[in-house]
Amino acid sequence: DDCCSAEDRREIQHIWDTVWSSSFTDRKVAIAGAVFKDLFHHYPSAKGLFERVKVAEPDSGEYHSHLVRVANGLDLLINLFQDTQVLDKQLAHLAEQHILRKGVTQQFFKGIGESFARVFPQVSSCFNLEAWNRCFHTLADRISRDL
Ligand code: HEM
Repeated sequence: DDCCSAEDRREIQHIWDTVWSSSFTDRKVAIAGAVFKDLFHHYPSAKGLFERVKVAEPDSGEYHSHLVRVANGLDLLINLFQDTQVLDKQLAHLAEQHILRKGVTQQFFKGIGESFARVFPQVSSCFNLEAWNRCFHTLADRISRDL
C-alpha cells in the first residue's frame, strides 16, 4: 500500500486545489492547527517539541507562523508531485530540518499521517482517503527515514 500512483497524485492535487491551495491563509492555519491538535491528543508527548513556537498559546503569532510554515511545506510537496527531482530535494531538505530537532520520531510522522486522515475528510466531502494515505506515507517515510 506504499505505492503512490500517477492517478493517486492527480487525485490528491485536484482535491488539494479545492481544499487548500485556493483557500486563504486563515483556512490553512485552521486546518493545520486541527491536525496538530489531533496529533497532540493521540501523541501527548509530541506537544513539548513545539514549546519554542508557543504551542501553549495556540492563538499566538508564533504558533500561527509555525502552522503556516508547515502548511506551506506540505503545499510545496504536493505541488511538486509531478517533478520527482525537485520533490526529492525538498524532501531531503525537510528531512534535514527535522533531524536537527531532537525528539522528532518516525512514530510522530506515522501519527501525523493518521491525524491528516482524520481531519481532511471533515473539510472535504469527497476526500479520497486511500489515495491520500498512499501518497502521504511515501512523503513521510522519506522525511523521517533517518530520524
Ligand atoms: C518545523 C514541515 C511533520 C516537528 C517544521 C518546518 C517545516 C515543517 C516547513 C519549519 C522548518 C524551519 O523553518 O526550520 C513539516 C511537514 C510535516 C511535518 C511538511 C509533515 C509532512 C512534523 C512532525 C513533527 C514535526 C510529525 C513531530 C511531531 C517539527 C518541529 C519543528 C518543525 C519540532 C521546529 C519547530 C520550531 O520552529 O521550533 N516542520 N513538518 N514536524 N517540525 Fe515539522
